[in-house]
Amino acid sequence: MDALNVFDFERLAETTLGPGAFGYYAGGAGDEHAMTENVEAWRRLRLRPRVLVDVSEISTATTVLGAPVSMPLLVAPTAIQKLAHPDGESGMARAAAAAGTIMCLSTLATSTPGDVAAAAPGAPRWFQLYVFRDRGVTRSFVDQAVDSGYGALVLTVDAPRLGRRERDLRTGFRIPEEVTVPSLAALGGWEGATPLELLGAIDPSLRWDDLAELRSLASLPLVLKGIQTAEDALLAVEHGVDAIVVSNHGGRQLDAVAPTAELLPEIVEAVAERIEVYVDGGIRRGSDVVKALGLGARAVLAGRAPLWGLACDGEAGARRVLELLRDEIELALALCGCTSPGAVTETHLTRVIAP
Ligand code: FNR
Repeated sequence: MDALNVFDFERLAETTLGPGAFGYYAGGAGDEHAMTENVEAWRRLRLRPRVLVDVSEISTATTVLGAPVSMPLLVAPTAIQKLAHPDGESGMARAAAAAGTIMCLSTLATSTPGDVAAAAPGAPRWFQLYVFRDRGVTRSFVDQAVDSGYGALVLTVDAPRLGRRERDLRTGFRIPEEVTVPSLAALGGWEGATPLELLGAIDPSLRWDDLAELRSLASLPLVLKGIQTAEDALLAVEHGVDAIVVSNHGGRQLDAVAPTAELLPEIVEAVAERIEVYVDGGIRRGSDVVKALGLGARAVLAGRAPLWGLACDGEAGARRVLELLRDEIELALALCGCTSPGAVTETHLTRVIAP
């Protein structure tokens, strides 16, 4: 059977990956309530299609931080992609480039920022930053990102400690010794670590006041990923951040939080168009993306969806997932009577959230 949608790819990935790797990718924290709810909350929202609009020409294209992308969906940073497929982050970067969108490379990648840049020359790309206790290693990765032409730094702020992911504890998952993570190698002593142990490398003391120092490391736009309240969104604006990602880390950190689709409206309202707001968590369908646009997001990030494609068929699989999501976005726009992402407004959503 050909995989027709993201859920098909997930099922196929489960048969391809061993239980340890699949559990690491598929799992969330605690009871996996936040992770499941992320998906369910998009489903609870309903679209309000408008008819008799000329939809013979539709463009899914938009911009993020001024960079043109073929659709309002970017590839979220996800760690250790060679665990999914030997093509790893380089394959994901080529897939994103072919689909015309931006890939966000994780600090915990299995290839260096330079190697990933060389794999997809000329393609726009962002670098996700974890601030390590060892600021020298942190600085060196920022330098590598700058030197290799990354267009933004995406600072992940929801992981001062790592969530307790029980699937990993049950399978005894550790990063396989043969999979090298250059940032961990630079830190030294983390080979074969469990995801929970990795946390020891990340600096839990990072505060709003530290953003200025981080900004001084690179003259790149700064995006904060992992904002879940209007209060923090306002602080982000006050601290001169360029954009935020409303995210609960795909339900992998604190389990007892709201799904991102429910958080988005209060944050969009607080930000009041001063900076771009993106959202991630539970995006599995093009219609989810259109709903996010209706709630005021500029774009979404997808984590697991392209990972399932990578796991099934490397670069080609990731590309297939991104292209099918783009096709689904285009169809959902057309059937809503919208000719572009910018045409979607809150009037395209029902006000009542179905139970
Ligand atoms: C992640 N995520 C993540 N985020 C980040 O900032 N740095 C990272 O290294 C990782 N690693 C990572 C690994 C895996 C296996 C997953 C599933 C997720 C979180 C990711 O960027 C994003 O926030 C979520 O994946 C979004 O939810 P969905 O799309 O997976 O439902």
